[in-house]
Amino acid sequence: MALGKLFLNLTDLLSYTKMGYAGGTEPQFIIPSIAATVASNRVRGTMSSLQRASDELNVLISDEAVAACKGGSHHLQNPIRHGQIENWDLMETYWAQSFFKYLRCDPEEHAVLLTEPPLNAPENREYTAEIMFESFNVPALYIGVQAVLALAASWMDVRAKGVSNPLTGTVVDSGDGVTHVIPVVEGYAIGSAIRHVPIAGKEVTMFLQQLLRDRGNTGIAPEDSMAIARKIKEDHCYVCSDPAREFLRYDSDAAMKTQFNNGKYSFELGHERFLAAEVFFNPEMISSASTAANVGISLPSLVDDVIQACPIDCRRSLYGNIVLSGGSTMFRDFGKRLQKELRTAVDERLAYTMDLKAVNKSELPTVNVVAHHHQRYAVWTGGSLLASMDQFGDYCLTKEQYEEHGPSICRQSRVFTLA
Ligand SMILES: Nc1ncnc2c1ncn2[C@@H]1O[C@H](COP(=O)(O)OP(=O)(O)OP(=O)(O)O)[C@@H](O)[C@H]1O
Ligand SMILES: [Mg+2]
Repeated sequence: MALGKLFLNLTDLLSYTKMGYAGGTEPQFIIPSIAATVASNRVRGTMSSLQRASDELNVLISDEAVAACKGGSHHLQNPIRHGQIENWDLMETYWAQSFFKYLRCDPEEHAVLLTEPPLNAPENREYTAEIMFESFNVPALYIGVQAVLALAASWMDVRAKGVSNPLTGTVVDSGDGVTHVIPVVEGYAIGSAIRHVPIAGKEVTMFLQQLLRDRGNTGIAPEDSMAIARKIKEDHCYVCSDPAREFLRYDSDAAMKTQFNNGKYSFELGHERFLAAEVFFNPEMISSASTAANVGISLPSLVDDVIQACPIDCRRSLYGNIVLSGGSTMFRDFGKRLQKELRTAVDERLAYTMDLKAVNKSELPTVNVVAHHHQRYAVWTGGSLLASMDQFGDYCLTKEQYEEHGPSICRQSRVFTLA
């Protein structure tokens, strides 16, 4: 069977679904992972099947969903919560619209690659396969682990540097709602060591919003403040190597400051440019309820803890290939600071057991944080790379296999290799 190249990547509730055809390095569609159903749909359980069918036709997704909710005809529903699908009926409708309205394809003609979060329940893979094979009749399906795909994306950049095993590394994936640290050894995520913190893009935006509000001289209207903070964050913020020194630089050098101007608001940006992303390195700076449980663990310490929780014989490789993935790793010098602080943490621990001055440097584990060109959409790009490989069909589960063995065959995906 000839396999087409279609790739659909589903992410979190507050986040965005990235989808497109394999081969490119960026998704063709990035749409909010939300749906809106007609107002009467609130009591689905008591509706007749005719009513339900007619309501399904009225489900809207993405920006259309937001607009319809504002108009009052629909109410917002999230098929996914915290990275897990919660409403399978709605999810199916969301996928249908993704195929037909966005990708404009016939799913019967394309192999589909979907991605899953770390520690996804096997039942979820079965339900997903059931919908893909039985409702959409896809000829072949691959469900890839997001972190493994992110490693593949970074390998596209760094293969020239001779990484010996591209599918071994520690993935730091920071999106909007959550930052995950996932150790992967030869294509398998080490589930017991995976950790996450609720500090990611949203927290940075909110902290920056607070900093701008505290300044009080920006003139930003409250209803615009979130969007402005997000824009400033994405366009002007960066990670410094030492906040104390950076403060002094701003005080002594006027050129460090920059002007924000979006036509409606215009003001000078100062310390907030480097302070916002400090939440990753000094999380005690924020103390919202959502992060209270985890304040105190900085990202470098979290990465160190994760690697230390892995079997001793893989730790060197995990320190040697720390791969960044997701929008919130895009701050300039994010990787540099992570590497520097992680190196310090490793050296401090080693100093307990050995005299660091006496040992040959080459014997110490290398700490290497890989910033790469495909970081922003690393998971999508890794999926796109995999789905365009000649061997992709061999890794997929086919409709024939599904029909022969039933949904349980989807509980695991074949681990792929990169040439
Ligand atoms: N250049 C940039 N600098 C800093 N942050 C950025 C940049 N570009 C995007 N972001 C932030 O990245 C976040 C979105 O990242 P991403 O698309 O990886 O998240 P997601 O996968 O949709 O969410 P999640 O992983 O939490 O489910 C947003 O908070 C956005 O503001
Ligand atoms: Mg994500």
